[in-house]
Amino acid sequence: MAEKEVVETSEAQIAVHWKEEDLVYPSPQFIAQANMTDPEIYDRFSLDNFPNCFKEYADILTWYKYWDEILDTSDAPCYKWFKGGQLNASYNCVDRHLAEFKNKTAIHFVSELIEEGYEHVTFQELYVRVNEMAALLKDFAGLKRGDRVTLHLPMTPDLPVTMLACARLGVIHSQVFGGFSGKAAADRIIDSGSRVLITADAYYRGGNLLDHKQKADIAVDMAKEEGQVVDKVLVWQRYPGKNSTPTPMVEGRDYFVNDVLKDYYGARVEPEKMNAEDPLFLMYTSGTTGKPKGCQHGTGGYLAYAAGTSKFVQDIHPTDAYWCMADIGWITGHSYIVYGPLALGASTVIYEGIPTYPDAGRSWRIAQDLDVNIFHTAPTAIRALRKVGPDEPAKYNYHFKHMTTVGEPIEPEVWKWYYKEVGKGEAIIVDTYWQTETGGFLCSTLPAIKPMKPGSAGPGMPGIHPIIFDDDGKTLEEGAGIAGNICIQNPWPGMFQTIWGDRDRFVETYFGRYCKDINSKDWRDWPYMTGDAAVQAEDGYFRVLGRIDDVINVSGHRLGTKELESAALVCVEVAEAAVVPVSDDIKGVVPDMYVSLKPGYDASDELAAKISAALCEEIGPIAKPNKVWIVPDMPKTRSGKIMRRILGAISNKGDVGDVMTLANPEVVEIIKKMAE
Ligand code: PRX
Repeated sequence: MAEKEVVETSEAQIAVHWKEEDLVYPSPQFIAQANMTDPEIYDRFSLDNFPNCFKEYADILTWYKYWDEILDTSDAPCYKWFKGGQLNASYNCVDRHLAEFKNKTAIHFVSELIEEGYEHVTFQELYVRVNEMAALLKDFAGLKRGDRVTLHLPMTPDLPVTMLACARLGVIHSQVFGGFSGKAAADRIIDSGSRVLITADAYYRGGNLLDHKQKADIAVDMAKEEGQVVDKVLVWQRYPGKNSTPTPMVEGRDYFVNDVLKDYYGARVEPEKMNAEDPLFLMYTSGTTGKPKGCQHGTGGYLAYAAGTSKFVQDIHPTDAYWCMADIGWITGHSYIVYGPLALGASTVIYEGIPTYPDAGRSWRIAQDLDVNIFHTAPTAIRALRKVGPDEPAKYNYHFKHMTTVGEPIEPEVWKWYYKEVGKGEAIIVDTYWQTETGGFLCSTLPAIKPMKPGSAGPGMPGIHPIIFDDDGKTLEEGAGIAGNICIQNPWPGMFQTIWGDRDRFVETYFGRYCKDINSKDWRDWPYMTGDAAVQAEDGYFRVLGRIDDVINVSGHRLGTKELESAALVCVEVAEAAVVPVSDDIKGVVPDMYVSLKPGYDASDELAAKISAALCEEIGPIAKPNKVWIVPDMPKTRSGKIMRRILGAISNKGDVGDVMTLANPEVVEIIKKMAE
């Protein structure tokens, strides 16, 4: 009997299926002040006008030398945007604002400790700090144009200062999310070939001062084992002049940045004239295989797209107080805390800690105190805020004109609470759909032009032309009512340039499936595959359901199932591991970990706890499984493939379907009983 092909559990399969909601229109007050109110923008950015339409984005920036070719496709799908142009991202985010906004706040820093109040860094001060840090990186650390440097920094102004200092020198920064483990940092140090690690001694989270420096020691040791020597570890102190970590400094390797900076007092560093296509940074993200992918973003294209989308979708004006509650360690923070808002000269808020610390009103007090008028966060945070304090926002006197949701599908119920309670019925909402790879938004409404629809991201952005293909490459039209693979027909400036050091993987992962001709230099032959499932309604709005690959979206961030599984296999007792996504009220999706043991080992609560701890250790607390199930055996096909679909159905209390074709159908019953 031929073996029945069974699809693996994907997020799309367990995604919520809500109905199309009614449209909600922006207020006349919002429209009256909006940056983009011209509906003809969609015609100007039609496929017929591609790629020249993106001149509008490039013109938001200041160029040393204006570009002469808008899009070079000669090495498709590794595109070069704004070829021949020269610019510097640090200059665009800092120097060029001095003439008008020198004394205006660039960064509002909010310590997690209430008693520490607020720190307001003006553009002038940012300019000074970035220059002095750039001088230190150049002279003391010996970094130069094209070098990679790994940052493992928490949420303080030291992080954007370091990023902008790197950008000033043309050094490619690779920031690792602060909550990630030393091992995760090591993997990224090795892959990027960094010989300098920039970290911090400590930071606050949930009221505790966490020792961060210890992770640097782990990272450097692990990198060395793999042959990547880090010769300098630069440590920013949470309290300059005071050591907040019990972890000792290593003589001749570790230096407190604050100390060394004294030698660079007053230093000024001329920004490097970078070519538009020179890399600006790497941002690692999970893929279907264990190894994270270093998404390489270019200078001109990325910055133009981050600035343009910040202006037209985020509706940022220089006078706005803008708060994106993401972490700068994710792409959202790079594009929409640092590069986008600062390129536009806005005041951007950086909050160190947890939105609900020490109580459910904290976020709204920050908004009130700083008079924040643009607010940006993920459904995970919205669900958490709604759960702990559904009536809190009404107690505070802040007024948002604009709110964003990003990173995962938002349930219409949650959207409505966000709109009514957080936005007080006054703020428009944009549901922005995009990815680490895409640098900026793929789908969203333009807030003054298109109405909102709860639960739908909206149409493709101007100049972004999504298309849904079925598995055979047939187009699923608007209103087809069927989900398929959402792809983008054309390149755009914010798109990543390649996977660092692995062009073949870049081509295969994102274009392999639907490329029409791998020798083609014509962008029309290279649709970009996002790896998400989506449906398009009759009105052209897209609803993104979730991942189609082995990636789990936890709290709006991607974790590879293979990464999680190999972390469990670090425990000697574990023979096999399989991870499946489980729906969760707050986090959207959380991982359930199934393991089977090697002969001679017995299941116990201690062992389950050990496996859970291994995931936190290897990847970080974000990877903590919902539950570790120690099972007698994994359900397998006759060819020995683990059937994640069945485990997923059990975890989600769904229907396991027909299991008779399995090699060991009896094990399904045993696991089902365990889960009852
Ligand atoms: O599955 C999509 C989901 O998050 C993935 C990208 O994750 P990451 O690279 O970590 O970037 C997160 C921030 C951009 C996507 O492939 N996703 C992102 N935004 C949305 C979304 N799913 C539904 N609606 C969104 N607005």
